[in-house]
Amino acid sequence: MRHLLFLHLLGASVWVGGHLVLLFSVLPGALQRRDVQPVRAFEQLYERVGIPALLLQIVTGIWLAGRWLPHSQWFGDSPIAHLVQAKLALSVFTAVLGVHARLAIIPKLDAQRLPQLGVHIVLITLTAVAFVWVGSGFRFGGLF
Ligand code: HEM
Repeated sequence: MRHLLFLHLLGASVWVGGHLVLLFSVLPGALQRRDVQPVRAFEQLYERVGIPALLLQIVTGIWLAGRWLPHSQWFGDSPIAHLVQAKLALSVFTAVLGVHARLAIIPKLDAQRLPQLGVHIVLITLTAVAFVWVGSGFRFGGLF
């Protein structure tokens, strides 16, 4: 249990930290210079740890959630069930954003489409931070 939480927190650090660096350190310079290269370079390097970290979050998260509530109660109406539902909804949103970026934005990325990618990066970072907020709710018994 302790190891699972440790892995979950390690993955969270990588996922959230990476996106905060992308949003606050890489993107502003790229937008200013209208140059997609820094974003591409960052994504290529980050992918190697970012994607495994996200997969680790899903696996450890589902495991941890099963310890809080039996699967049969995940879609119930209790405060903990709402947290599990929020985590699952954020996971779906993350997957949709990821697929959309991969298929619709990155292949055709140029200076003109950079602001569109920027919106995308803001959304994925907000989603990552929301994961942490929802996660911290488990020990406090609810979303707020
Ligand atoms: C990138 C994705 C995710 C991030 C950044 C994230 C982050 C966090 C953080 C920071 C905590 C607080 C841990 C604590 O209580 O000290 C947490 C807890 C938790 N998360 Fe996630 N999480 C993610 C994905 C998921 C997913 C997909 C699930 C699956 C339903 C999940 C389920 C849980 C559960 C059950 C806890 C409570 C752990 C406990 O204290 O026993 N998480 N998460």
